[in-house]
Amino acid sequence: MISDTHANLTALEAVLSDISSKGLNQIVMLGDVAGKGPRPAEVLDRLRELEIPCLFGNWDELLIRSLLPNAAPEMPSMTEALEWQRGHLGPERLQWLQSLPYALDVPRRAGLVRLVHASSKGVWTRVRENDPLENFYGLFDKSPEVGLDAPTPLAVGYGDIHTTLLRHLRSFPEINPELRGRMVFNVGSVGNPLDCNLASYAVLHPSSQLEVSFVRVAYDVETECRAAVYSEMPQLEEYLEETRTGFYHPRG
Ligand SMILES: [Fe+2]
Repeated sequence: MISDTHANLTALEAVLSDISSKGLNQIVMLGDVAGKGPRPAEVLDRLRELEIPCLFGNWDELLIRSLLPNAAPEMPSMTEALEWQRGHLGPERLQWLQSLPYALDVPRRAGLVRLVHASSKGVWTRVRENDPLENFYGLFDKSPEVGLDAPTPLAVGYGDIHTTLLRHLRSFPEINPELRGRMVFNVGSVGNPLDCNLASYAVLHPSSQLEVSFVRVAYDVETECRAAVYSEMPQLEEYLEETRTGFYHPRG
């Protein structure tokens, strides 16, 4: 499971190469294909070329607002960067982003795993590492996005926060006893990790008990930074700093 490539082709290629070297046979992508980085079209085309199933992310939603008649207004400070990304993607790729689903249910031997971008309630409901436990339990909520009659999964995996995590919901059954023993994990980010500057992905193992492992991949950060400088993209300094350090840099 990969997520949040954010138009960083150097990191994506390094992660794909690492996945290939391990003989892993199925890749899924949890959203935020583009936005932030210098090569949105190239990253999107690579994912499509490999026929990797992709989910819809919040940056994907920001990018396709140009296609929607009644879209919410975007922050003025973001307009130039979003228009730059849209211009590089072009209408056909934006339509492809618009077609992406919110959730993917993956049956495993151990049980059902639900994959979403940010939460089961849509791409803008964020569950951060230090949030109250209730928010982690909320990842199992039913919603129009995941299906109101969808089965309760054994685990929910997500992206969005660019930070890996794993929580077993076994210590606080008073919140929701039905979810005792379920698991929540975040796969981190390929192109814009914000816990360190190594690209991240996660692996679901084919064991009878649900087993998730996390992989960090060193890649050539300076090659990516040169591509960013060469592209003349807006918000360059923020991207360079995040890419080099793994610390979030606010925009606008
Ligand atoms: Fe993201």
